[in-house]
Amino acid sequence: MDKNVLNKMLRPKSVAVIGASATPGKIGYTVIKNLQDGGYKGKIYPINNNTPEILGLKAYVNVTDVPGEVDSAIITVPAKYMSEVTEECGKKGVKGLIVITSGFSEVGRKDLEDEMLAIAARYRMRILGPNIVGSLSNSDKFNGSFAPGLPLPGKASLVTQSGALLIAMDMATYTKHVGFDKLISIGNMSDVDFADLIEWFDEDEDTTCVSLYIEGLKKGRKFIDAARNSSKPIIALKSGVSSHGAAAAASHTGSLAGAAKVYTSAFKQAGVIQASDLNNLFDRTLALSQQPSMKGENLLILTNGGGVGVLATDAAEKYGIPLKFAPPDVQEELKKHMPDFGSAKNPVDMTGMAGNDWYYQTTLYSFAHKWTDGLVVLYCETAMTNPQEIAESIKKAIDESGIKNKPVTVSFVGGAKSDAAMAWLVEHGIPAYGAPDIAVNAMASLREYALLQAHKNNDVVKSDPKARKTALEIITKARADGRDSLTEIEAKGVFTAYGLPVTHTELAKTEDEAVAIGKKIGFPLVIKIVSPDILHKSDAGGVKVNIKDEAGIRDAYKTILANAKAYKADANIHGVAIQEMAPWGTETILGSVNDPSFGPTLMFGLGGIFVEVLKDVTFRVAPISLVQAEEMIDEIKSAAILAGVRGEKPRDRKVLAQTIFAYSSLVHDLEDEIKESDANPVLVYEEGAGLKVADARIILNKK
Ligand code: ACO
Repeated sequence: MDKNVLNKMLRPKSVAVIGASATPGKIGYTVIKNLQDGGYKGKIYPINNNTPEILGLKAYVNVTDVPGEVDSAIITVPAKYMSEVTEECGKKGVKGLIVITSGFSEVGRKDLEDEMLAIAARYRMRILGPNIVGSLSNSDKFNGSFAPGLPLPGKASLVTQSGALLIAMDMATYTKHVGFDKLISIGNMSDVDFADLIEWFDEDEDTTCVSLYIEGLKKGRKFIDAARNSSKPIIALKSGVSSHGAAAAASHTGSLAGAAKVYTSAFKQAGVIQASDLNNLFDRTLALSQQPSMKGENLLILTNGGGVGVLATDAAEKYGIPLKFAPPDVQEELKKHMPDFGSAKNPVDMTGMAGNDWYYQTTLYSFAHKWTDGLVVLYCETAMTNPQEIAESIKKAIDESGIKNKPVTVSFVGGAKSDAAMAWLVEHGIPAYGAPDIAVNAMASLREYALLQAHKNNDVVKSDPKARKTALEIITKARADGRDSLTEIEAKGVFTAYGLPVTHTELAKTEDEAVAIGKKIGFPLVIKIVSPDILHKSDAGGVKVNIKDEAGIRDAYKTILANAKAYKADANIHGVAIQEMAPWGTETILGSVNDPSFGPTLMFGLGGIFVEVLKDVTFRVAPISLVQAEEMIDEIKSAAILAGVRGEKPRDRKVLAQTIFAYSSLVHDLEDEIKESDANPVLVYEEGAGLKVADARIILNKK
């Protein structure tokens, strides 16, 4: 990504508006007016084919007629003229096009979009949009959009896929007192995408936090890489969380991998904080843009009211930063600034008698104390206090502490005076909110950011060319048979190539062969139908377990074949799989889906009812590192079962993590081939005893 090109596009020294208009109410008029009203200091060149002057500016018939350089062009002509206009911009040497125009891929005219992109590529121009509101930058006083005006200035910047949301948030910045430096609408994301802008913002000195509104990513992997490399906090609100594609899934994993879960995992992997809704996006953005991360787990809450203190305490637990009592020395000191009936534990309740001085003293002492990793200051408006003075006392204490590497958030609960005092605090770099739980939630986002940074580790693309070759041989053979799924034996062959310990399994085509193989493997045995037409073997009566002797093999062989024929008369039956019956261990499931946004994505969870009923599973976009494999094990709600409960010994975590890691290489290596897969159950034994994959399923991409 060429950062200079994006600089010219989004922070231009000169801008042409192609399709500028002298008619009020038209978008081409509004953009010129917005540029003027916003106080843009660069050159504005209206381009219009029938008007000589627009809003006091000389208009040109063609961008190529403009005498000076043109860094950026805002396009407001109908889509049908786009190719011609792009070509002209290319000839003029314009660096980037901000394409407000609609009528491209979003309405089925991908051809128009592709044509525009091809022309732009020839001239090395970048495209923002099409189908956008435009781009705004407070630090450049550049309102290159038809949004109502520049937002309240602030240190965060927003990138949104929805233009309507940009417009909605723009003016709300004033009522919510949450400022932004840049607002960028990316619409169809035909060229410049979230990842490009995350990289660009990393070097933008006016942005301290990047806020995203995401409907869907096209290149998920690129997004993860850009976000992970960002040195600034990124917060995302993801909409459209219904489960896409899940209904049609053939594997267990496929049916569990809804868009929301995969996105949540990908965000975690990328170190991106999530917002739960639009208000939360504002609230968390404010904290992340103004405060450093919360590096330890000790949260201290100061209050003049018990009720708000309790609400904040509940919120602290809910959002993952539960309160601990302050150490005795801290309590001793704090007691000096409260009446006898106050409480110095945590929350520290100075009572309704707290005035400016107590707020100043307790804030200064608490914030400066090494025990405190984050401070939330609460205030309920009383008749004896003035909210503005309390705000100033808090600010004075924070400043005098000289501490820059720990966060503070504030909540004032009261009327108009409290609101004004909070606006003042925000203006002076202290995030303030109208409810105690919101101040705590904002603090929790700062803690989350610290944790995500600490766990940020690199993926390991561990390709295994030899294993891939073996796997491809198996897959090619299945495809040659006209199949898009592998049999269990074939799937186990692929797993074995990647070093996954599978139960010993061989194919028998006759009853006598079944007996011979069975005797060789040793009893007890499991016998299963092998047919590409029967994916759910148990449903077809195609599985017999715990077979202890030759008679059992003969009996199972006949019954399974008869059941299979009854289940599906025309099923293509390869024979039966004779396999060792692995001793029962803790049942887990490992699987993959090829997600439309992120590509191969792994799933891990406890098997049996845990996966069936509780859906206690976790996801990661492949490839992952061994550390991430361990995180997956720790992340499921039933992790304690693997760690050993009620006197049971812990399960073999090391081998399990290695197996998940190997699975990641498998699905990453075979991304073009595998649509979905399951290793289910994966039986995990006591520490040192490893695990066994007892069943395997691989569904291929259609080619
Ligand atoms: N060179 C120079 N001038 C041109 C050219 C050209 N090649 N082509 C047209 N013009 C002039 C026109 O003569 C007109 O000037 P005039 O007002 O003096 O007559 C002006 O450019 C605009 O062209 P119109 O044909 O009048 O187009 P109109 O303004 O009606 O619509 C627009 C253009 C706004 C780009 C429209 O096609 C469109 O896409 N609207 C949707 C925009 C949008 O909503 N974007 C997504 C935002 S996200 C959200 O939904 C909030």
